[in-house]
Amino acid sequence: MPDRTAGPELLDVVIADRRSQADDIISLELRSTDGSSLPAFDAGAHVDVYIGDDVVRQYSLCNDPRETHRYVLGILRDPASRGGSVAVHRDFKVGKTITIGAPRNNFHLLENVGKSILVAGGIGITPLLSMAHRLSALDRDFALHYCVRSDARLAFRDEVKAWQTDGRAFIHYDDGDPGQGFHLASSLMVPADDTHVYICGPTGFIDFVTNEAVAAKLDPSRIHVEHFSLAPSHSSDSFVVRTTSGLEVEIPPDRSIADVLIDHGVDVPLLCEQGVCGTCLTPVLDGIPDHRDSCQSDDEKASNEQMTLCCSRAKSKHLLIDI
Ligand code: FES
Repeated sequence: MPDRTAGPELLDVVIADRRSQADDIISLELRSTDGSSLPAFDAGAHVDVYIGDDVVRQYSLCNDPRETHRYVLGILRDPASRGGSVAVHRDFKVGKTITIGAPRNNFHLLENVGKSILVAGGIGITPLLSMAHRLSALDRDFALHYCVRSDARLAFRDEVKAWQTDGRAFIHYDDGDPGQGFHLASSLMVPADDTHVYICGPTGFIDFVTNEAVAAKLDPSRIHVEHFSLAPSHSSDSFVVRTTSGLEVEIPPDRSIADVLIDHGVDVPLLCEQGVCGTCLTPVLDGIPDHRDSCQSDDEKASNEQMTLCCSRAKSKHLLIDI
């Protein structure tokens, strides 16, 4: 069962609807168990979904943030993942009550800018859908670019096609006419000073689009990204961690700081184990972390005041952390 003493506020919700959106992609509509309103959320927000004992995954909310009667999630079944999405596809049926965390947002939409360009790779469409809904409601200038492998993988097609009819959404197929391929530079042309770009998808896709945005002379402060999946990556040299409780341990290249500390009896609070939720953020008193999370801003990472123990490493040979 979820630990209700850790992480954000938890909610029990019922699966009111489940739809096949595309090959290997379902949507779930979640409602409160008693018909009351759900906590409000901002465009780009996500929730933690408790899938089983010790299995928690983050999924973006993709419906219109004005809606308070439901949350809609889009979930890709990824057999190569650590099993969370496979269990959701197998076990999450209409009528089932599940536990989620209250919405949180690491991917904020700036609402008062001249133009917003939303660029999705595959299931990375989900947070960008809520942004498109929000920008649409505000009557803001935006363009949604949705890159998918094939038409069979085109999820949420009714919403996207409606914006496409309006000239505000553009679908790019990997297996289609090369002329349909996505090139941010040609979409931006000469980017205005108040253009912001939001990118979500696999890491390689984000890197590709980010490089295009930089090449198009878009200021990095106007490029916003969210990785929809972060595989913990531990590869780096080993290093030594000392704790304020007096422990000193070596962290080998293939293990996380959290894993090693837990082996030594340290109570490390964990939730996502992917550097997304911030539950394991711990003060750094000495040494230089190698930040690999996506829950801290660039400024927070540069300050080196805290680090995530589930995925981050060290640039220095030693770290002293307050735990
Ligand atoms: S457990 Fe979520 S950031 Fe470490």
